[in-house]
Amino acid sequence: MKTLSIISQKGGVGKTTLATALAVEAGRAGRKTVVFDLDPQASASFWKDTRQDELVAMTALPAARLSHVLKAASEAGCDLAIIDTPPFSKDIAYEAAQHADFVLLPTRPAVLDVMAMSRTVELVRHYKKPFAAVLTFCPPSGREVEDTLTVIRQLGAEVCPVRIGSRIAYSRAQQTGRAAQEIEPDGKAAQEVRELYAYVCMNLYAQNGTRSDTHERKRVAGGS
Ligand SMILES: Nc1ncnc2c1ncn2[C@@H]1O[C@H](COP(=O)(O)OP(=O)(O)OP(=O)(O)O)[C@@H](O)[C@H]1O
Ligand SMILES: [Mg+2]
Repeated sequence: MKTLSIISQKGGVGKTTLATALAVEAGRAGRKTVVFDLDPQASASFWKDTRQDELVAMTALPAARLSHVLKAASEAGCDLAIIDTPPFSKDIAYEAAQHADFVLLPTRPAVLDVMAMSRTVELVRHYKKPFAAVLTFCPPSGREVEDTLTVIRQLGAEVCPVRIGSRIAYSRAQQTGRAAQEIEPDGKAAQEVRELYAYVCMNLYAQNGTRSDTHERKRVAGGS
């Protein structure tokens, strides 16, 4: 089993939205997927409560139990665990980073938000975990994305080549217990989620620089 942690100490950057959308994508791809909701606000768990299917399993738990439940999930034959974390909790972020095989750090394209991200980058580096920043709520045009990328690169962080746009499909889906790719399968959000999922898989399952890894890198970077 592989573990993806989604961490940002800033609130409202799309952590839960990405956790649930990626979980749905993984479930549809045939991976036995569980989301561990470490957020006392339990947004991911509420999302699951409004779903009618068993595509994605969900467990809300205190971070202190994470190690135990990850082991149990692995022994139960899970392929992928996705950990959704709350904002403003360094302790929980440490716990999620410690157990991750790969970490996504969502951030809005705003220079001040990236400054705040630098503490999360330090925390993930502490455990020497591979990670990438992913830009969320990207506007269709303007300088924000380029300016933000410059600051992220100054932090020495890898940037996910897939950008998540600011799109109504994400918020509409979230409110109805769905993922954007389920409510608008041909939409731009669906395409972004598919590409992000491919990028995550490349980092989780193909870390040895194999040919398929390189192929996947090109495919994701090319946005096809
Ligand atoms: N790319 C997007 N475009 C438009 N709306 C989005 C996008 N991503 C998330 N949203 C909406 O923005 C709000 C915040 O998103 P979300 O709950 O995923 O953030 P979060 O980082 O998990 O927040 P918190 O830190 O409070 O846990 C939600 O209403 C969600 O539906
Ligand atoms: Mg959340």
